[in-house]
Amino acid sequence: MRTRELLNLRNTGHPGINALFAKAHSADWDFEQDVDWGVSVERDDPLVSHAWAAYGKTPTFQALPEHVKTHATRRALGRILNILQVGESVAQDVCARLVLTLREEDYRNHAAAQAMDEARHHLAYRRFIDAMREDVEDIDTGTEMMFDALLSTDDPLELIATEQFFLESFAMNIFEGIRREATNPLLRRILELITRDESRHMGFGVLYVAERMRREPMQWRIAFARRWLAQILGSLLDRPGPIFLGRVIRRLREAGVKDADTLAPRMLREQQVINAAELADAASGAAVPQLLKSARRAGLMEPEILEALDLTNQPLIRGALRATPEPESSA
Ligand SMILES: [Fe+2]
Ligand SMILES: [Fe+2]
Repeated sequence: MRTRELLNLRNTGHPGINALFAKAHSADWDFEQDVDWGVSVERDDPLVSHAWAAYGKTPTFQALPEHVKTHATRRALGRILNILQVGESVAQDVCARLVLTLREEDYRNHAAAQAMDEARHHLAYRRFIDAMREDVEDIDTGTEMMFDALLSTDDPLELIATEQFFLESFAMNIFEGIRREATNPLLRRILELITRDESRHMGFGVLYVAERMRREPMQWRIAFARRWLAQILGSLLDRPGPIFLGRVIRRLREAGVKDADTLAPRMLREQQVINAAELADAASGAAVPQLLKSARRAGLMEPEILEALDLTNQPLIRGALRATPEPESSA
């Protein structure tokens, strides 16, 4: 970038995207002042209800002794918070790159404001993990590969589609789950503040993709939707299965459950029933995942596109279209 290129930066005039920058200031929060870091995080506090974690709703898990459930739930929470804290650093990196590559004034401004939000989120998660005083499990290979791929990208569309549009919509259900199930007030407060910021970030992703979809020819739109609807549906259909169960069983063994392995087949069967019920809720339109709401708002689920991709009758897509769309969030 040269001075000449910055001399007359063009503002797209998009009212929604311009409003996000102002919102980033008016809805700002202070990492030290707005969070009471004095709230205690006891070693025997599960911090979230046991039902929050994968396999936590199964009757077999629920029947385990309290200290075992607490150990497994804290391990599950620590693992997710560790993925989130590094995810925040990845997002900060993506935003820094966007500031350097985007040429539109309002887009650059949003990315600069988001970079600061992500720095604050990273600090908040790290500080909470420290307060938990326990070793966290390593992040999994799939997540690391996905982040690595994102960090090696320079193309603004690829960066925004992956980070703000896909990942932040995906994460929104995780944030809402923790916030809803948190039993520790400090954890709930952090998630409440972070989710407020994340809905602006996701809003930028949706508005940016929607703008591109509006401008590009139908063939481009179909190709874009093909890639991202496949990714979205793949991630929604990926329910807790044997790999996840392996982690849970290991945690039970750590907590001293001698026959942990013999519980596995029963827990898997019970979880499969829960998975099917959750997918049925999504298919009926009763609980539409945020990823599908974002895809719909960004224009990926127009009838012509779905027809070209042979997705008109895909149950989750039908469920999302059946649900009444929420009023455009002011994010
Ligand atoms: Fe964040
Ligand atoms: Fe974010």
